[in-house]
Amino acid sequence: MTNEERRPHRLLVTGGAGFIGSNFTRYWCDRYPEDRVVVLDALTYAGNRDNLSGLEDRSNFRFVRGDICDRALVDSLLAEEQIDTVAHFAAESHVDRSILGPGAFIQTNVVGTFTLLEAFRHHYNTLETGRFLHVSTDEVYGSLEPNDPAFSETTPYAPNSPYSASKAGSDHLARAYYHTYQLPTLITNCSNNYGAYHFPEKLIPLMCINILLGKPLPVYGDGQNVRDWLYVVDHCSALDTVIHRGKPGETYNVGGNNEVKNIDLVRMLCGLMDEMASDLPVRPSESLITFVKDRPGHDRRYAIDATKIKTELGWQPSVTVEEGLRKTVEWYLTHQDWWKPLLSDEYQAYYAKVYGG
Ligand code: NAD
Ligand code: DAU
Repeated sequence: MTNEERRPHRLLVTGGAGFIGSNFTRYWCDRYPEDRVVVLDALTYAGNRDNLSGLEDRSNFRFVRGDICDRALVDSLLAEEQIDTVAHFAAESHVDRSILGPGAFIQTNVVGTFTLLEAFRHHYNTLETGRFLHVSTDEVYGSLEPNDPAFSETTPYAPNSPYSASKAGSDHLARAYYHTYQLPTLITNCSNNYGAYHFPEKLIPLMCINILLGKPLPVYGDGQNVRDWLYVVDHCSALDTVIHRGKPGETYNVGGNNEVKNIDLVRMLCGLMDEMASDLPVRPSESLITFVKDRPGHDRRYAIDATKIKTELGWQPSVTVEEGLRKTVEWYLTHQDWWKPLLSDEYQAYYAKVYGG
């Protein structure tokens, strides 16, 4: 379908001021400028309006600060904006924070998703077509042994952290609303993303920023845990594909087939920073690597089998991990005015709780 033949969509993007939601919003507004895009975001510590800079002046764009658990607000936005497509990113997303305080994860991830599904169920009666895309994670499948096959869409759920358990609960709700009410829900389970606008507490931005500040690089446990990394823009193109071509009621796993041990990833980042940054306080950056106490319940390995989305919908990632990490390091080097204000008192207090004072 060419862009000329395509019927314009009216999207509600929840969590659109966060890392992936803001990348998706920018991707969508650039690719489909004729579409209406409404972002609903509570602006928690992880949400940042600066992530949407350049979009807010567009006539087809609207930002609303609000909570997905606020049913009256969600009802009024769906009706007033005649939303036909929900792209649901809003969540508490950090495993370490879910260990410190799981309550917010149950509230936003489970109750918030339930609230959106209920609101969309009532609104959907008035639509000819519609889609509810529930953006989820590979963590719902639990942890793999070194020689296990990668997670497929039929791998049983076995979440191990309060974060992944809350996401698993929300996935089950999205699935149930298709089976019970024929609500056109689609679920994606994606591996670890990285790229621009990634909040400083997650592994890749944390390492980039600590290298620039000459601070220790905390690697949990023995550093042998494996994650399967996907450049965030490739995740956005997968979600675009699922919204346009996915089958309601289906789940699609999304991943880049890039399994890397944490310690190897950190060493790659150190190498890139040593090459690309001119004024590092400590060289070589690898000398900053410090092994620290492991994350409780730390999943050993994640890996995604993305065969279904590739063969049924024709999606492919376009960026290799080497290219993506280089672009990401470049972005953190040239966007210090974005990340420096995020190292707030709240961030320092969180940092002290996880890594010690
Ligand atoms: P993030 O933490 O960067 O952003 C979450 C956003 O949701 C923030 O802008 C925050 O303000 C907003 N939010 C939180 N609670 C809210 C509420 N009650 N009402 C409205 N807005 C609220 O998260 P992210 O990394 O961008 O992840 C987005 C989604 O993708 C999540 O659902 C996550 O589970 C999923 N996911 C993330 C990854 C990853 O690697 N980051 C991988 C796979 C799936
Ligand atoms: O797999 C998808 C998930 O990826 C998403 O659902 C989550 O929202 C997202 O946060 C991410 O979860 P992880 O726990 O894998 O990401 P994080 O960046 O926190 O950690 C990546 C790996 O690095 C993990 O094995 C823990 C380790 N780590 C992390 C931090 C912050 C360290 O060794 N040191 C650290 O300081």
